[in-house]
Amino acid sequence: MPPRRQAPVTAARRDKPSGRAPGAIALLASSRRNGNTGRFLDRIASGLGVEVVDLASKRISAYDYEHGNRGDDFEPLMKRVLGFGQVIFASPVYWYAVSSPMKAFLDRITDFLDLPELLADGRRLRGKSAFVVATSIYEEAPKPFVDAFTDTFAYLGMRYGGMAHANCADGYDPARHEAEAERFVRLVKGDAARHRRSATRDRREPGSS
Ligand SMILES: Cc1cc2nc3c(=O)[nH]c(=O)nc-3n(C[C@H](O)[C@H](O)[C@H](O)COP(=O)(O)O)c2cc1C
Repeated sequence: MPPRRQAPVTAARRDKPSGRAPGAIALLASSRRNGNTGRFLDRIASGLGVEVVDLASKRISAYDYEHGNRGDDFEPLMKRVLGFGQVIFASPVYWYAVSSPMKAFLDRITDFLDLPELLADGRRLRGKSAFVVATSIYEEAPKPFVDAFTDTFAYLGMRYGGMAHANCADGYDPARHEAEAERFVRLVKGDAARHRRSATRDRREPGSS
């Protein structure tokens, strides 16, 4: 069950995303940095000119109800992520689900909803765009995998922008997966451009925000 203290999604969705910081950051969560997901994400990140953060190389421990893990790498990383308007979550499908580093990261977002001193920062997730990059050994990622992301984004008031998926049954193949990578790069760029236009419109129309 998600934490109950967060405002309901409907209220979160009413928040205007204007004033959102520009730029994107990509969070990679695979058991190997240069495996299928890492290589697919690197192609996408270079098309977008964005940084890739390897979650598996960070000290991010499991969610702790007592918050005894506040000294690990999660809080500073999350504060950095909050500086971007678009967040790309990348994970392989491991047993129909997201990988362990991604699960730990998503669970720990709860810290920003639990702790009064982090709540204002946590609310800054609202209105950001969230994207998913995934690899598996089938043509599509399983529904429970996709739902874990999209339901979480909806709960947090983030706008789901779409997904890139590569069937890596025969490994990652740059040529075979190029079209999907390029489609996704255009999708993320399109979202950023739309957001810039609506922010400009909001600035021009007094009282619109
Ligand atoms: C522990 C584990 C579980 C997996 N479970 C699934 C699965 O449920 N469905 C699927 O399509 N592929 C599954 N795979 C295959 C991976 O999703 C696929 O090989 C992926 O491209 C690996 O990415 P990586 O190199 O970043 O780890 C699994 C692989 C591993 C290692």
